[in-house]
Amino acid sequence: SSPEAPCSGFTEKQRRKQPGRKVILDFPRMMYYNSFLTVAVLFEQLINEPVTNYQKKRMGKGMKKVDLLYEGKAKKVYKTDDPDCYIVDYKDDATAMDGLKKGTIVGKGAINNRMTNHIFKLLEKEGIPTHYVEELSDRETAVKKVEIVPLEVIIRNITAGSFAKKMGVEEGIVFKRPTLEFSYKNDDLHDPFINKYYALSLELATEEEIDTITEYAFKVNEVMKKYFDSLGIDLVDFKIEFGRYKGQIILADEVSPDTCRLWDKETHEKLDKDRFRRDMGNVEDAYNEVFRRLGIEDRK
Ligand code: TMP
Ligand code: ASP
Repeated sequence: SSPEAPCSGFTEKQRRKQPGRKVILDFPRMMYYNSFLTVAVLFEQLINEPVTNYQKKRMGKGMKKVDLLYEGKAKKVYKTDDPDCYIVDYKDDATAMDGLKKGTIVGKGAINNRMTNHIFKLLEKEGIPTHYVEELSDRETAVKKVEIVPLEVIIRNITAGSFAKKMGVEEGIVFKRPTLEFSYKNDDLHDPFINKYYALSLELATEEEIDTITEYAFKVNEVMKKYFDSLGIDLVDFKIEFGRYKGQIILADEVSPDTCRLWDKETHEKLDKDRFRRDMGNVEDAYNEVFRRLGIEDRK
């Protein structure tokens, strides 16, 4: 169900074949290229390094950062030499309370980048389209260039945070069915709570888009809840964002301990950014623990 990756015209599967591959003569390509290129293709297969542009793109090594497009609180976004792609670069910077509280969570950039990619690949397998294209380094990922829908979509399975405060209930009550809310992504207004009808009147998205977003958000919850459960973690709540790509709604932004509440199933210990927001200490330990449980292998 994984849609064909943009940017090079090759699928994820074709790209993954590349590292450490055997030298297999690619006769159709050799026939296609003239004799010089045939030699080049043979050579690059022998040394396992891209020589032709064809192979550079195929190995995902053709993409370069061009201009810094935007620097957010936790990420930088770069334009690339590919008009359909951006490169996201995750930082260790952390903020809370609308940026009033500032700090650093050492190692967070790499954890959030690699965790997001891991989860997005899982979601793609389950039929949720995402902006993921290719992980370029510990902190950098090539993503499809989307136009972000200015809605923060929050799903909750257990009471916590602003829900508990606003509704006057304690944290930790498990809902019989999950709930969803939207915030209008607008820093000047402090991301106010809005509903579908506000979003329609403000023309933030069409009704069809909001319905797709809602359907995807609940599906993301089902997949992630089950997955985190298998890691001994309760997925309390999370925030996701969507974008438009070639007329379709796809999942964008990130899924990480910055954007999810994750509680250990046994001890109920918080393994997420609330440790930073609430000055609880052991912030890095919590991020590392989540990363460890995900079982993501080291990059070579
Ligand atoms: P809340 O309870 O503070 O509304 O947060 C709900 C979820 O959304 C929680 O998992 C943290 C996440 N979140 C963000 O990702 N970004 C934000 O700016 C805020 C306020 C919350
Ligand atoms: N990232 C948001 C901010 O800086 C809030 C949060 O995650 O709590 O305000």
